[in-house]
Amino acid sequence: MLRRRIFWTALGLLLFGVLAAACAPPGGSQKKEASGELNLLCTPQVEWCEGMKAEFEKKYPNITVNFVRMSSGESLTRLRNEKDNPQFDIWWGGPVDGQIAAKQEGLLEQYKTPAQDKIINKKLMLDPDGYWVGVYVGSLGFATNKDWSEKNGGWVPKSWDDLLDPRLKGELMVAHPSSSGTSYTALCTILQIKGEDEGWKFLKEYAGQVNQFTKSGSAPARFVGQGEAAVGVVFSHDIVKQIEDGMPLILSFPEEGTGYEIGGMGIIKGAKNLENAKLWYDWALQPETQELGPKYGAYQAPTVEGAKPSKPELLKVKLIDYDFEWCGQHKKEFVDRFTNEIAGAENLKK
Ligand code: F6P
Repeated sequence: MLRRRIFWTALGLLLFGVLAAACAPPGGSQKKEASGELNLLCTPQVEWCEGMKAEFEKKYPNITVNFVRMSSGESLTRLRNEKDNPQFDIWWGGPVDGQIAAKQEGLLEQYKTPAQDKIINKKLMLDPDGYWVGVYVGSLGFATNKDWSEKNGGWVPKSWDDLLDPRLKGELMVAHPSSSGTSYTALCTILQIKGEDEGWKFLKEYAGQVNQFTKSGSAPARFVGQGEAAVGVVFSHDIVKQIEDGMPLILSFPEEGTGYEIGGMGIIKGAKNLENAKLWYDWALQPETQELGPKYGAYQAPTVEGAKPSKPELLKVKLIDYDFEWCGQHKKEFVDRFTNEIAGAENLKK
């Protein structure tokens, strides 16, 4: 009698469990359980960082995202300094040369996830060892102040050599490659187009044209729009953003080919909120997430299938076959050489 009662009670409990599991919403329990904090190192422009924080917190209401916006080179320096006690969980954005350098220095955590299956070009945009993945793509362009161009017969630079034009002496504005990933992309583009020997000679003359180096890569577009310099070397999506905000700028591209970035993402080695970092990583690779960029003034192209680029024309220009591995592996060496032999990184314009 007692045995029979135990049998029926156990069967009842089992059936209840099965039914409860079957009725639960898919992914619901994971969403409910995810809580705590996520410390995000964010390299795209601050408006997009703020937008992504809000969107992620909407999806995971029990997670608070704390982010700091830092340029790519600054981020790398910070990660190096915090290696033994990391303060960030994930690094989202900035040209992937930065993440490649970080992987090489043992600053990133390996993470392989099915969300990576949607990457459109795995050879270029996915680290085979699973330390970083591409989250956006953007090409380098030149921003010329409209009034300055009109006063100069409508001239705008159309090649890298044009940046050495005597008219641009003290009129060129670029970020410093030690702080900025944009500027490092330009430096590495020049070395690839011209070869190392010629490239370094060119970089010396190019630096001689510079009015003042800025800290962040997109800042020259704003300053050139305000008339503080004639021409800036900036990612084309950042130039478009300034044009949409009303800045009098003309966008042009070097005809011999321009460099481009794959914006990278990687989890920080020793992340204190590892599970939340993985949630962000997976979320950032969803097509719906990548299509959020334009809502926050970010026109980089997505890297996953199913997400539509907002400004496809920005990649329909002549691109060089940019060697991300080479540029990433030599980042420290090239930045140090530029800083020590060509232009120091003091007094960068903010
Ligand atoms: O403003 C956005 C952006 O241009 C990104 O596309 C790029 O990855 C990042 O900024 C680079 O910033 P910085 O040059 O300041 O390192």
